[in-house]
Amino acid sequence: MSHLNVNFLGIPMASPVIGASGTVGFGLELADYVDLKKVGALSGKGLAPTPWMGNNGVRIAETTSGMLNCIGLENPGAPYFLEHYLPEVKKLPTIFIANMVGKSVEEYAECAAMLTVPGISALEVNISCPNVKVGGAAFGTNPKQAAAVTKAVKDASSLPVIVKLSPNVTDIVSIAKAVEDAGADAISLINTLLGISIDIRTRKPILGNITGGLSGPAIKPVALRMVWQVSKAVHIPVCGLGGVMTGTDVVEFMMAGASTVQVGTANLADPSAMGRIVNELDEWCDKNNVRDVNEIVGTLKA
Ligand SMILES: Cc1cc2nc3c(=O)[nH]c(=O)nc-3n(C[C@H](O)[C@H](O)[C@H](O)COP(=O)(O)O)c2cc1C
Repeated sequence: MSHLNVNFLGIPMASPVIGASGTVGFGLELADYVDLKKVGALSGKGLAPTPWMGNNGVRIAETTSGMLNCIGLENPGAPYFLEHYLPEVKKLPTIFIANMVGKSVEEYAECAAMLTVPGISALEVNISCPNVKVGGAAFGTNPKQAAAVTKAVKDASSLPVIVKLSPNVTDIVSIAKAVEDAGADAISLINTLLGISIDIRTRKPILGNITGGLSGPAIKPVALRMVWQVSKAVHIPVCGLGGVMTGTDVVEFMMAGASTVQVGTANLADPSAMGRIVNELDEWCDKNNVRDVNEIVGTLKA
């Protein structure tokens, strides 16, 4: 499988396929289902400087070709992760990326400093969290706030920093450029799209939080469009995600401009999905005489 090797952020990876945050835990359970040596990296569940409880009530709803979730970024906190999970995570035969969240710029910086330890190869900064200090709008919906978080994390950590963008904006390119200018080493996109599901018998929303994040195959065309727009506009690598279920979905994202691709909801439908997806990508490369998967990045003829 040597033609699947990639170098992302100066980190050699076995393949461009990465497990997406929130769908692979911290990788420990997945090791029973997937040969992690074939997986490029895993992005762990988002960590905050202190434990977060998450939302009450129903937190998952199935939709046409996807799902809504309103977990509310429940996590045990970075200190707990470092003490109780990281020693085991270090033994996994793949790269570990720490996904992180915060409710203020200061919290993001604090979390980044905590997570800058051996065994963590990069930080993925989820900027879809509400800024409690500036009225609750997500950091990722405002270029200035997105840049402030990026700069604070870069200043607090020596690790490569991937900033994960929210698709719930009018102009994704302006956010991408703002985080690039603020020092981001890479961009991942997309996070989930805001939606609602309704129980018509009770006339109530199905989710306890009313709204939730839509993921899965339903969002793939939106994700591909945003990856294509952003990869043309920035000079840093782009990691694409949203609805990837098969090896040829990975090919589509790479052609749109992504140098690596994450798999999320597919892991929840089938915990062995990433192994299958890597094998399908390998087969596609063989059948199409692609000796090095990096060759297809950004080759969309548009
Ligand atoms: C249950 C669930 C939990 C998630 N938790 C996180 C998280 O903690 N941090 C984050 O950056 N993204 C989180 N995401 C978003 C995914 O990483 C991904 O961006 C999104 O689901 C789109 O990809 P997909 O369609 O392949 O699932 C979560 C998604 C799901 C379904």
